Amino acid sequence: MTANAILVSSGNWPPEPWAEAARAVDPKRPVFVWPDVPDPAAIGYVMAWRPAPESLIGLPNLKLILSLGAGVEGIVLRDDLPDVPVVRIVSDDLTARMTEWVVLQVLLHHRQQLAYGRQQRDHEWRELRQPAASDVRVGIMGMGVLGQAAARVLGGLGFRIAGWSRTPKDLPDIDCHAGDEALDAFLSQTDILVCLLPLTHATRGILSMALFEKLARNGPLGGPVVINAGRGGLQVEADIVTAIERGVIAGASLDVFESEPLDPASPLWRLDDVVITPHVAAFSDPAELVGQILDQIAAYEAGRPLRNLVNRAAGY
Ligand SMILES: NC(=O)c1ccc[n+]([C@@H]2O[C@H](COP(=O)([O-])OP(=O)(O)OC[C@H]3O[C@@H](n4cnc5c(N)ncnc54)[C@H](OP(=O)(O)O)[C@@H]3O)[C@@H](O)[C@H]2O)c1
Repeated sequence: MTANAILVSSGNWPPEPWAEAARAVDPKRPVFVWPDVPDPAAIGYVMAWRPAPESLIGLPNLKLILSLGAGVEGIVLRDDLPDVPVVRIVSDDLTARMTEWVVLQVLLHHRQQLAYGRQQRDHEWRELRQPAASDVRVGIMGMGVLGQAAARVLGGLGFRIAGWSRTPKDLPDIDCHAGDEALDAFLSQTDILVCLLPLTHATRGILSMALFEKLARNGPLGGPVVINAGRGGLQVEADIVTAIERGVIAGASLDVFESEPLDPASPLWRLDDVVITPHVAAFSDPAELVGQILDQIAAYEAGRPLRNLVNRAAGY
């Protein structure tokens, strides 16, 4: 018997939309939903989002793990990961959604919308000094699919763009920095920091007070701004609170949190210059993405190369 069945193990995401979409695209292929696995030996593929740890073990014929999201920390940051390739989602739809969120947050801080919102509440008509986009330096940590897409649109709006990645890049109109040794120089020229890093052993907790203190203090916004849509584990929330209270950063926009949902008692909620969204910057749409996932399975079965392979050693 060929092990060609799919197991959907989707953590806190409802599994049925993924299972139904997969059955609709490939009606001949059996699709099971964790924990209902009548025959573990039949499973060749797992469609996974923060999968239950037990759901990836005891599958003797597992060939491929397909992440339902762009971030794979819920799959690869475990010691007992089966020794099979892991592929992730890259999609124009997801990328466009993230670009919208990042551009919205950058413009909101740049155009002082939080201050105008407070003025509106107080019926106060007062013009605030507005710098040009070309005077504002946006530094993007994580120049992968999402970081580069946001950089293109923000650059088109006139912002000065720098990027920081693990390996060197040469991108038009972007001041590219790479590696730990280049981080301080990148930060020292950044007014608005956008974080689109993956969560790995190397990046966990990187958005800390030590980093905030290295951001540019001579920019036109009255202090640096931090925007994170990568993962909550990248940020030290207690440091964000202290940094805002002490004026080390002037504002923040956060879509992701150390623990989700964000605790109603978190002090982040009450900070005027912090924007909170509930992990909605981008969205994995089953109808949009299942075709790509089944194409990857078809490629694997035909011996063709896989796309968007995760580098398990690097963790993303
Ligand atoms: N909030 C949401 O709704 C949402 C939705 C989707 C994704 N995300 C998050 O966004 C992240 C990025 O997605 P993506 O598709 O753009 O990923 P990607 O294409 O893999 O890009 C990751 C970028 O981070 C860089 N990087 C990784 N480790 C680094 C390190 N130690 N030092 C410096 N740079 C490092 C990589 O450098 P190289 O270019 O040198 O490899 C790359 O530029 C995902 O991992 C996920 O956590 C969030």
